[in-house]
Amino acid sequence: MSDKNNTYTERELEAMSNDELARLGTELDDVTVAYRKERFPVANDPAEKRAATLLNVWLTIAIVSGLAFLAVYLFWPWHYKGHGDEGLWMYTFYTPLLGLTAGLCIVSLGIYLVQFQKKFIPEEISVQRRHDGPSDEVDRRTITALLNDSWQTSTLGRRKAMQGLLGVGAVVAGLVIIAPLGGMIKNPWKRREMDYHGDGTLWTSGWTLHEKGVKLYLGRDTGAVAEEHTSDTGTHMTTQGISRLVRVRPEDLAAGGMETVFPLAEEDVNDGDKYDKKRDVYEHHMHSIHGPRNAVMLIRLRSQDAARVIEREGQEDFHYGDYYAYSKICTHIGCPTSLYEAQTNRILCPCHQSQFDALHYGKPVFGPAARALPQLPITVDEEGYLVAEDNFAEPVGPAFWERES
Ligand code: FES
Repeated sequence: MSDKNNTYTERELEAMSNDELARLGTELDDVTVAYRKERFPVANDPAEKRAATLLNVWLTIAIVSGLAFLAVYLFWPWHYKGHGDEGLWMYTFYTPLLGLTAGLCIVSLGIYLVQFQKKFIPEEISVQRRHDGPSDEVDRRTITALLNDSWQTSTLGRRKAMQGLLGVGAVVAGLVIIAPLGGMIKNPWKRREMDYHGDGTLWTSGWTLHEKGVKLYLGRDTGAVAEEHTSDTGTHMTTQGISRLVRVRPEDLAAGGMETVFPLAEEDVNDGDKYDKKRDVYEHHMHSIHGPRNAVMLIRLRSQDAARVIEREGQEDFHYGDYYAYSKICTHIGCPTSLYEAQTNRILCPCHQSQFDALHYGKPVFGPAARALPQLPITVDEEGYLVAEDNFAEPVGPAFWERES
């Protein structure tokens, strides 16, 4: 900063007008104003009024489109509709309308800002030399004066209508940005009809269907996908007759092996003696696979290891012979504990390296997880398939505020 700073007392600075302080600030900052021209030097210029009106129109468009975005986001029917469903027409417009209204809001605000700069801020070319070090009192005062000067020369201070519209526009623009975040807020207590995803609450899963009297097989994922089918009407993809989940028998798993299984309701079985190539259960199977708390590790211990198992109190009969079924959802923060090491009988979660002991009711033995993996009670039905004997005795996955176990 220039040495001239020290030549002004506080009293002198107090006595200066805003214009004088602004000019002083320019000098002290070694700023040379090479060129400056007011946009409308003559008062009450009709062109100035036209420019202000045009800018107000852009602000109004921004506000209206912002409000339209909020209205579409909050009230337009957004639930997925497939072909042939009632309301498909309305649903089809949901995303385009969101994009159109949000885009129009942002673009018109942008046009307003650019036009405001071009129409009302004086044209100016200034050159400044840079200085190091902190700002002095005189600099702080003069910069405030310069900002005041900018406010006055921008003419915004006397344009009440534009100020109001700007205020409303800023609020609406803020809402346009914030409102979509509301979609991430869910009501954890809101229950819906029980299905493969549980009833919507954290303490249920597809296995909770057992409590509703549904017979649940342990379903192995075959990885089958839609196939091409040719008929009179041409070639198309179909999932008819494709069974993504199939029932598992104990002999399907070798000793020391692990298989990921999902709940498979009796009415969705389409394999073995129940296979019907005309049935299409694919979508139901995919719902089970995608259920966030459904994945279970079915482990067949080696006989010598099974002899050393320590059962959890009250869960002594949850296993079937050498077969143990543990939830695959890590009790730390919910990653899939997908690695089973038969030599050590450790189950490893790859996210933060928690380890669980398969011989000790899935108890954590290393890493950040603090709770055992819930064990699913299993047995074999009269046809020889592995089935769930009951629901999990405790919620699956990480801790949450209402959890008691
Ligand atoms: S989620 Fe499994 S250790 Fe963190």
